[in-house]
Amino acid sequence: MEFSIKSGSPEKQRSACIVIGVFEPRKLTLAGELVDNASKGYLSDIIRRGDMEGKAGRTLLLHNVPGLLGDRVLLVGLGREKDFREREYRSAIHTAVTTLNETGAFDGTLYLTEVPVKKRDTNWRVRQAATVAQDAVYRFDAMKSKKDEVRRPLRKLTLAVERRNELAGAERAMQEGAAIAGGMALAKDLGNLPGNVCTPAYLANRAQELAKEAGFSCKVLERKDCEDLKMGSFLSVADGSRQPPKFIVMEYNGGAKGDKPVVLVGKGITFDTGGISLKPGEGMDEMKFDMCGAASVLGTFKAIAELKLKLNVVGLVPTTENMPGGAATKPGDIVTTMSGQTVEILNTDAEGRLILNDALTYAERYAPACVVDIATLTGACVIALGHVATGLYSNTDSLARELQHAGDDAHDRAWHMPLWDDYQEQLKSNFADMANIGGRPAGSVTAACFLSRFAKKYEWAHLDIAGTAWKSGAAKGSTGRPVPLLTHFLLHRASAA
Ligand code: BES
Ligand code: MN
Ligand code: ZN
Repeated sequence: MEFSIKSGSPEKQRSACIVIGVFEPRKLTLAGELVDNASKGYLSDIIRRGDMEGKAGRTLLLHNVPGLLGDRVLLVGLGREKDFREREYRSAIHTAVTTLNETGAFDGTLYLTEVPVKKRDTNWRVRQAATVAQDAVYRFDAMKSKKDEVRRPLRKLTLAVERRNELAGAERAMQEGAAIAGGMALAKDLGNLPGNVCTPAYLANRAQELAKEAGFSCKVLERKDCEDLKMGSFLSVADGSRQPPKFIVMEYNGGAKGDKPVVLVGKGITFDTGGISLKPGEGMDEMKFDMCGAASVLGTFKAIAELKLKLNVVGLVPTTENMPGGAATKPGDIVTTMSGQTVEILNTDAEGRLILNDALTYAERYAPACVVDIATLTGACVIALGHVATGLYSNTDSLARELQHAGDDAHDRAWHMPLWDDYQEQLKSNFADMANIGGRPAGSVTAACFLSRFAKKYEWAHLDIAGTAWKSGAAKGSTGRPVPLLTHFLLHRASAA
C-alpha cells in the first residue's frame, strides 16, 4: 500500500473515500464538523436519526454527500471520547482500512489521524496508522492453489494532519510506520510458512536475498564452520534432524565505522518436535512458529535498512530443526558449549537455550554495545503473561527500561521480569556445570537465567515471545511481533547517537 500525508479540509479532498470518526454518543470529530458544515448538516442529520451513534467498531458508508469534492464518506465509530486511547485508536484505524478494502475503494483519506490520543502526538498517530493500516491488509496465501483476490484492493491511503507545519515530521513518521509494517509482513510470511518449506536452508537463503536487496552483508556458517567454532550446544540440537543446520550472520553498517554494534540474536527452530523428549501431538503444528525470533530479526533488518538507520546492527540466527532422529541427543547427554561451560541436557525440548547460548558467545567478538535475543522460549511465559506482553529480562536495568519504553511507544509491549540469582539454583546439575531445565516453578525465569550465564561480557536483554509471536485458533497466524518494538528501540538508539 502506498501512503501520503496531507493537511487540508476534508470537504476539498478528491479522494474516493474520506474517513471520519464519530464519538459515542453522536458526537462528530473536528473533521466531521467541517464535512457537516460543507454538506449543510448532512452528517448531523444522519447522526440525529440514529444511523450512526459512534459505537466502537461500527461503520457507515455514505454516497453522494452534498458539498464535497470526493465520492464517499466512511463514518467510523470511535466509542466514548473519554475512553479513546491507544488501543481504541488502533482498532478504529483497523476497522476503517478493512472496510475500505472491502468496499472496493481504490484510495482513501483518513481523518482519524487527527483525532487526539492521550499522551501521543501527531507523529505517533501517523506512524501507528501506517503500521496498523498496512498490517490490516496483510494476507498469507502463498500455500493456496487459488488466491482469494480482493475485488479492488485499497492501493493508496492518505493520512491527514491538522497543520501544515506538521507535514515534514509526519512524512518521516509515515515512512517509519510503513517500514515497520514491511518488516512485520516479512516476519509473518516466514512464520506462517510450514516447516517443510521454511527449513534452516530456506531461512538462510531468504536472509541472503534480503541482504542483497537491502544492501547489507550476510554470511552463512555451515555445520563444519560451527564445529570449528566448537558450537557443541547448537549442533547437539541439530543431531536428530536430516536438515543441515545454518548459522546466519547479518551485518548492517549504517553507523560510523568502529561504533559498537547492537547485536540481535533470533531463535530459529524451524520445527520443534521436542526431540527425544517428544511433545504431545495436539497442536504440535504450531511449533512451526518456533523460528519467529529469527523471523523478527530478519523483519527488523528489512525495516532499518529501508529507513537507512545510522546505526551498526548485527543479526545472529542459529537455525535448525529439533527432531527425534536416530542420532538425536538423549536426555542425560552432556555437551560442551562454545563458552567452554558444560550442560547436562535433561530435556531435549528445552532446545532454544541450547542454540542461543552458542550465539551469545559468538556475539562477544563484536564487543557489542548491547545484545538482545528474541525467542519463543517457554510455554511458562505464556502462562505468566498470556498473549499480551512479551517477557523481558536483562542484566542491565537501563537496557530493560529502554526496551520496555520502545515497546510502549510501538504498542508492542513487554514486561520486565526478575532475573535474580536466587533462581539460578534451580539449574544445578550433578554431572555438568548446569542442567538445561530448572523444573516447573518460574520456567520462563529459569530459562532466562540459563541464558544469562552466557551473556556476562556485555549488556544483554532477552525477549521471551512465546505468547506474542503468533495467534492460535481461528485467526491462527504469525503476528510479526516484536518487529515494532525492536525497530523503535533501534530508531531511538540511532537518534540518540
Ligand atoms: N518452543 C518451545 C516453547 C513454547 C511452547 C512456545 C509452547 C510456545 C508455546 C520450547 O522449545 C520448549 O519446548 N520449551 C519447554 C521448556 C521445558 C522443557 C523446560 C516448555 O516450555 O515446555
Ligand atoms: Mn522445545
Ligand atoms: Zn522450541
